[in-house]
Amino acid sequence: MSYKVGYFVGSLSSTSINRVLAKALIGVAPDELEFTEIPIRDLQLYSQDYDESYPPEAVALKHAIEESDAVLFVTPEYNRSIPGALKNAIDWASRPWGQNSFDHIPAAVIGASVGSIGTAVAQQSLRGVLSFCNARQMTAPEAYIQFDPEVFGEDGTVNKPETEEFLRNYMAEFRDHIQRVLTVLPRP
Ligand code: FNR
Repeated sequence: MSYKVGYFVGSLSSTSINRVLAKALIGVAPDELEFTEIPIRDLQLYSQDYDESYPPEAVALKHAIEESDAVLFVTPEYNRSIPGALKNAIDWASRPWGQNSFDHIPAAVIGASVGSIGTAVAQQSLRGVLSFCNARQMTAPEAYIQFDPEVFGEDGTVNKPETEEFLRNYMAEFRDHIQRVLTVLPRP
């Protein structure tokens, strides 16, 4: 059984370490997982004024999530929370009221920082948001990555066996989590 994973990179930076981490995660993921990025860059700032008629970028966002079996968030920490661009995307996807695209979707969060806290605080913040959005989050293992350019190659290679094994296990656990959730809550 294969699963479609839509992944979010919370950073808009052209040199994003979280985009590098996303590549590394895809590289070590089990064969059953197929990945498609869900872009957030071109979304306007959300307002309820759009609820009557969503712009095409927001329609595409909701469609991409609804087409996915699961979502993966790979995000930086900004000021001890998640970047505004990611929160904005989640706000779009959660609305209009009654049409929350995250309802019951299997989800996982991970992130990389230059600091030793490894996005732990941002991930807690994101977990609160996803909890309200009724996503089915993988709660363990957690993964707080302090980014080391010696370890992570731009092309997604991981040059440290312990780190590669850790990420491989994280993605295998995510596959198992998706399987478990979809057994009870099949996607519509
Ligand atoms: C940061 N950074 C940061 N790091 C951290 O560990 N905790 C934090 O709260 C913040 N806050 C923060 C705010 C803003 C506005 C910026 C631009 C940066 C540093 C951050 O970890 C670093 O810039 C990463 O490289 C960001 O990830 P991407 O964009 O490279 O994926």
